[in-house]
Amino acid sequence: MEENKTIAMPRIGEKAPEFKAVTTQGEINFPSDYTGNWVILFSHPADFTPVCTSEFMTFASLEEKFGKANCKLVGLSVDGLYSHIAWLRTIKDKIEYKGMKDIEVKFPLIEDITMDVANKYGMIQPGESSTKAVRAVFYVDPKGIIRAIIYYPLSLGRNFDELYRALIAMQTADEFEIATPADWRPGDDVIVPPAGSCGVAKDRMDGKEENVKCYDWFFCTKPIPEATITKKLIKK
Ligand code: BEZ
Repeated sequence: MEENKTIAMPRIGEKAPEFKAVTTQGEINFPSDYTGNWVILFSHPADFTPVCTSEFMTFASLEEKFGKANCKLVGLSVDGLYSHIAWLRTIKDKIEYKGMKDIEVKFPLIEDITMDVANKYGMIQPGESSTKAVRAVFYVDPKGIIRAIIYYPLSLGRNFDELYRALIAMQTADEFEIATPADWRPGDDVIVPPAGSCGVAKDRMDGKEENVKCYDWFFCTKPIPEATITKKLIKK
């Protein structure tokens, strides 16, 4: 009978579990090599598979955009290094997809044949597959803290607009000490923190706080222009 093993699942707000790994770009120490940067650590089920290929081409073509937002990318699957190298070479030399061609994946792709890293990060979810990683996305901040986690099943390719939107939303929340409402995009109003005292709440409700709009005492917003966010967060 199969043993009922407890699977470690890192959580939001915790230090990203540490590991040393071999990648297509040499050895990395995670997360210490990335201190000072945001990093997206993501897993994919297998090399030489179609959904993963579409995702890698998309991520590689967006690497510069993520880089300008101070975010590095690190991929992982439970395949070996030579499989990774052969797959990435095939992508570069042979695959043209949705206008993307000659795509070179320059970010590191971790080999994890022992599944040590995948297990550490809860990427192996046996109900979906016990031999492949699910499509996990871990956002790790410049201090090495896990800030968001998204999991997708094997059959579902990720939405890269959302991956970028979530990054900018978290950076904006940190920088401007606000929260972001449903479907927020840069330029939309943001949510101001709850008023610390009844007096401030009343002033807000009475429209006395400049630029703040309240829908009720617990739900107030203010504008932050997109240009302000871009200036603060995006490198030229
Ligand atoms: C894919 O990337 O196409 C894929 C990988 C594993 C299972 C199903 C689809």
